[in-house]
Amino acid sequence: MNIKELIKGMTVEEKIGQLNQVAYIPATIDGIEDRIREGKVGSIILAQTAFAGNDSPCSVDYEKVNRLQRIAVEETRSHIPILFGRDVIHGHKTVFPIPLAMAASFDTELIKKSYECIAKEAYNDGIKWTFAPMLDMSRDPRWGRIIESAGEDPYLAQNVARAVISGFQGDDYSKRGRLCACAKHYVGYGASEGGRDYNRTEISEYTLRNFYLRAFKSAVEADVGTVMSAFNEISGQPVTSSRYLLTDVLKEEFGFKGFVVSDWAAVKQLIDQGVAENEKECAQMSLKAGVDMDMVDDIYNKYLLKLLSEGKITEEIIDEALYRVLYIKEKAGLFDDPYTAPVNVDRAFNAKTAKEMAEESMVLLKNENNILPLSVSDKIYIDGEMKDDTRSILGSWTLDGIAEETVTVFEGINKYITPVLNEKDADIIILAIGESHTVTGEAHSLADIDMKREHISLAKKYKAEGKKVVGVLNFGRPVAMEDGEKYFDAIIYAWHSGTQTGNAVADILFGKVNPCGHLPVTLPRKTGQIPLYYNFTKGSRTVNEYYDHADNRFINNYDDCKGSPLYPFGYGLSYTEFEYSNPRILSEKNGEYVVGITVKNTGKFDGKALVQCYICDEVASSMRPIRELKSFEKIFLKKGEEKEVLFKLGEKELGFYNMDNEFVVEEGLFTVYMGGDAYCENKVSVRYIKN
Ligand code: GLC
Repeated sequence: MNIKELIKGMTVEEKIGQLNQVAYIPATIDGIEDRIREGKVGSIILAQTAFAGNDSPCSVDYEKVNRLQRIAVEETRSHIPILFGRDVIHGHKTVFPIPLAMAASFDTELIKKSYECIAKEAYNDGIKWTFAPMLDMSRDPRWGRIIESAGEDPYLAQNVARAVISGFQGDDYSKRGRLCACAKHYVGYGASEGGRDYNRTEISEYTLRNFYLRAFKSAVEADVGTVMSAFNEISGQPVTSSRYLLTDVLKEEFGFKGFVVSDWAAVKQLIDQGVAENEKECAQMSLKAGVDMDMVDDIYNKYLLKLLSEGKITEEIIDEALYRVLYIKEKAGLFDDPYTAPVNVDRAFNAKTAKEMAEESMVLLKNENNILPLSVSDKIYIDGEMKDDTRSILGSWTLDGIAEETVTVFEGINKYITPVLNEKDADIIILAIGESHTVTGEAHSLADIDMKREHISLAKKYKAEGKKVVGVLNFGRPVAMEDGEKYFDAIIYAWHSGTQTGNAVADILFGKVNPCGHLPVTLPRKTGQIPLYYNFTKGSRTVNEYYDHADNRFINNYDDCKGSPLYPFGYGLSYTEFEYSNPRILSEKNGEYVVGITVKNTGKFDGKALVQCYICDEVASSMRPIRELKSFEKIFLKKGEEKEVLFKLGEKELGFYNMDNEFVVEEGLFTVYMGGDAYCENKVSVRYIKN
């Protein structure tokens, strides 16, 4: 398709129509066909309401979609197909673990494979565009949308971004079974003050560049088709109307060639944010900033023609936005293949992959006296409100998940043993506790994420009766469990892990699978510690009471609580033990370093170790974090086996954006840490000298 020629033949009304996304929700379906015929519909979002994340599933099907598409292709003058979008966040009919859990796998190949499964199921229902991956860096678990993210580390988020985009788009998303992806929410939404959704953010340019923007830059480099602008303001400037962020940085500096879609009615919300007096101003500000498509509030349809006639915008800026939209419709294959033709979907394979993903995501936090794995001869009683749950463990943002297909925790365990019917007869209590999906996701924040009293008292009761207590924690977000942790002999952070949660939990509990997930976010002791994350810059002074972890001496304690996390970023146990030794530098020349560490499986089980590599730029022109994850490798080791793991570090890893927004690598000492979590202490020092 020659897009420039197509644009030449379009009326300005048709051009404006392409910049509008219409909501296909029950309330708006009437009249949608006429609007398509009038050329006012560039895209349709298949959504039940504005808060699709915790909605009851609403059916979509490709025949309905194809019928609407036929109107656009055959009954309009421009014959331009519609781009149908939907929030396909971590599954479609087969529900995979929430994105935060998938990030805990640190297994980018498996994440990519999971999204290939998801893309085919969604495509077959007429969906060609998804609003994922969500790449908001999240340091505040009070914010319900942390569950949609890849956690608190930008390097992990960059890897997840590449994996999800590749899983959805493949090399060519014009192919059937592929979806156009959308990196969201550009940018800084995860810094919502107080963890309260939609709240203001205060982010310096320095932190924006070295932390919040990194995953989006990787998404652009991974050829993501679209980017969604965020609701939030950054230090007084709404992203929706920020030409600096949307055009200067994203489109010009990063070289983004796709199109920017606003978040739901965010264009109109510039009035609420107090930067626009009326809807017409909203339209003018957003288009000029670089929002190419307006999601569902119809502001572009209503006002762009008027703004054009008043000389407040030019047809050139409309053509620029239009070119981007049509360019992506071309890349999505719509001009050659506008109608959904279902591809073969192997639901059994998808279920198997979902189970594998859940197993790789679950994190063993505690295993006193190696009580796990359990034996089928153990006398076990199962309690806890999540043991029979089929919906919450699917997580938020599962519009099309089929709860009837969920394998519950009880059902999974029941495949191994028949639990005793009375806890009096049990030696071991499995306590399946967690949170409802409805307190996670969009528009859901919690002021208190401390472990609930009822959960603590349940564990305490069983402990007092002399039982061994195994906690299966089905939470979406991190929970602060200092007050309850002591009553559990073992704890598995099982997240909201989707359709296969029960099978994955059971295979881990009974040792068929050796857990190997690692935390993508810090688990605080108490809510009051938030924000708490591993990659912080040191304070200028320390109080007398140092935290007892050598490298945490810079986390000052409170008078009523230690300053350090209960479990740090990168932490995760195994049924076996891994010994890290002999950290060393293998080569250093021209600013390129190869460092290595020996990892040995010294325990009784085969297992996977997540070998992590962090740096600390000890002295720089601006303050650098005490640790920054720069590489990781998940390796399988048979019991007794040892391997050498090598990491390459160069300017890309050692550099940072300085106060003048320049990416620099400064001469000086770097400490390189290698091991099994963010506070590992096996280290070497390298001195970077410019060549
Ligand atoms: C919502 C969310 C966004 C979602 C969009 C469409 O408000 O912020 O993540 O993709 O609207 O449902």
